[in-house]
Amino acid sequence: MKGEKLLRMANISKRFGRVQALKGVDFEADYNEIVGLLGDNGAGKSTLIKILTGVFPPDTGEIYFEGTKVTFRSPRDAQRLGIEAVYQEATLVNVMGIARNFFLGREPTRWGFLLDKRRMNRECIEILSRIGVKIKSPRREVSLLSGGERQSICIGRALYFQAKLVVFDEPTAALSVKETEYVLRYIRSLKEKGLSVVVITHNIYHVYDLADRFVILDHGNKIGEFVKEEVSPQDIIDVIRAGSAAVIRGGGGGDT
Ligand SMILES: Nc1ncnc2c1ncn2[C@@H]1O[C@H](COP(=O)(O)OP(=O)(O)O)[C@@H](O)[C@H]1O
Ligand SMILES: [Mg+2]
Repeated sequence: MKGEKLLRMANISKRFGRVQALKGVDFEADYNEIVGLLGDNGAGKSTLIKILTGVFPPDTGEIYFEGTKVTFRSPRDAQRLGIEAVYQEATLVNVMGIARNFFLGREPTRWGFLLDKRRMNRECIEILSRIGVKIKSPRREVSLLSGGERQSICIGRALYFQAKLVVFDEPTAALSVKETEYVLRYIRSLKEKGLSVVVITHNIYHVYDLADRFVILDHGNKIGEFVKEEVSPQDIIDVIRAGSAAVIRGGGGGDT
């Protein structure tokens, strides 16, 4: 559909017991755009992203992807449409090897039922080396990998399966300085390849550098939305600090 954003989430609410984690949030990501999703701990960022990646359904609200209304019953449904998640936790099965994790649930087969392990090993190594990751063996258990290496498997997977939108939840939280640089570079390269990215991070300077637009959540509400040109990193920090009491200024401020 013309004029439609790549992703539009409308009026998304989600409750966990007594906690109203999201309250009617609207969220969009355009084609070839990097959106930074920000907010203090407990703001609802991960919940929004888990709804977007099919981990659980929203209580209310709709998701439109490429102009079509979609519903996800599992992360597999979201992946099939081209939405891939890169988290520190949960996306990899520790006791399995790198190649098995790379293809998990989407394995190439021979005669429709035998895993084509040779092809899995070869293609996994090839795509990882293309993004600059050298692995000793595709059979190596992922529990032995560093946080950065684990994420690079997810990123390689997103490229291999031709994702349209890649979602990062705190990608650099547990990484060394060097690994952090790699991950930031990957995120940039996804945009250069024409993909869209949603990135959650506590590091305002990283996200300011990367993102085209920022969305700020607080206690389940969207309290701010800015394109980079209208805010400084300090403006964003101020909005997050002030929380929902914040007075959101319009564009044209420019006090940097
Ligand atoms: N699976 C869950 N069960 C119960 N409460 C949850 C669950 N996931 C998140 N919450 C609660 O929802 C709120 C928002 O959490 P979350 O989306 O993880 O915030 P953020 O990622 O912004 O730190 C928090 O109060 C959190 O404790
Ligand atoms: Mg979170």
